[in-house]
Amino acid sequence: MFNKLIAASLPYMPKKLVWMFSKRYIAGETIDDAVRESKKLNDQGIKVTVDLLGEFITNLDEATENKESYLKIIETFETNKIDGNFSVKPTFFGLLIDEEACYQNIRTIVAKAAEYNNFIRVDMEDSPCVDQEIKIFRRLKAEFPKNVGLVVQAYLKRTYSDLQNMMDLQNGSSNLNYRLCKGIYVESPEVAYKKYEEINDNYVKDLDFIFQNKVYPGIATHDKPLVESAYKLIEKYNVPKDQYEFQMLYGVTPDLRKSIVDKGHTMRVYVPFGKDWFGYSTRRLKENPKMASLIIKALFKRG
Ligand code: FDA
Repeated sequence: MFNKLIAASLPYMPKKLVWMFSKRYIAGETIDDAVRESKKLNDQGIKVTVDLLGEFITNLDEATENKESYLKIIETFETNKIDGNFSVKPTFFGLLIDEEACYQNIRTIVAKAAEYNNFIRVDMEDSPCVDQEIKIFRRLKAEFPKNVGLVVQAYLKRTYSDLQNMMDLQNGSSNLNYRLCKGIYVESPEVAYKKYEEINDNYVKDLDFIFQNKVYPGIATHDKPLVESAYKLIEKYNVPKDQYEFQMLYGVTPDLRKSIVDKGHTMRVYVPFGKDWFGYSTRRLKENPKMASLIIKALFKRG
């Protein structure tokens, strides 16, 4: 209840105060901020995936603007020789307005990344978007087999069968590449597992399938028991170190992150930046009020 109250009142708090809560999780407002923070991570042997903040758009002009911003981000990151790739949210490019326009926008971004031999991750959004996002991924994967990957969410009951159904896209020279995460959106019990144990069991089941089928996973979690389960699966299937990576969000559980890096595993950090940090932070907190207490804890820990 306390978390819900805090989360609900955040949009009415002064921006400066919300920034105090949020700054640990956001690289800054500008490309320069994102480049600087990415360089710092690269210096620690950590790769990045960069995300321009902002999700809800109301017209296709905004989608075009967002596409142009991403093209600029790719050029800037390549010029600065950042070891990283890029994450995109389809709704940011018009998914809920015009699926074909959205596809064309993301296609242009993937084509730009492909020029540099780089990679675009299609983030997964809430459950009504999943079919369309898989459809877009299928089209992109057919044209750019090495330059695009998808996110799958362990809390969705459908995910295991989605993994099975997408196996037709696996092909020896350019394996499938998924980021496996728990899922962040508020979903109904009809479509999603709700209990921690159920979500974790499904996460391990999905990861087991992924390793068995030689798909490349981004193991995206800050949950220590899941990291331990992933270590066990890596050992069970004797997976070479270049056939998987761990992923975490910027600013979250840096100690666990360091322990994974110290063991010699590849780590990639999701670096969100942009002017829309206020909307992003308050939306995330409203979607998942549990985060409010984590953020408050982080604030007090840091004095
Ligand atoms: P869980 O939520 O159980 O957290 C485990 C522990 O991690 C907590 O007990 C706490 O110690 C710590 N922790 C987690 N979040 C924290 C925070 N904000 N601050 C401090 N500590 C924290 N989701 C989605 O639906 N679509 C997507 O495309 C993506 N993309 C994505 C990329 C990457 C790289 C990551 C790491 C995550 C995502 N997610 C996502 C979000 C994901 O679905 C999930 O909501 C969060 O990662 C939290 O789940 P955990 O696995 O960390 O476990």
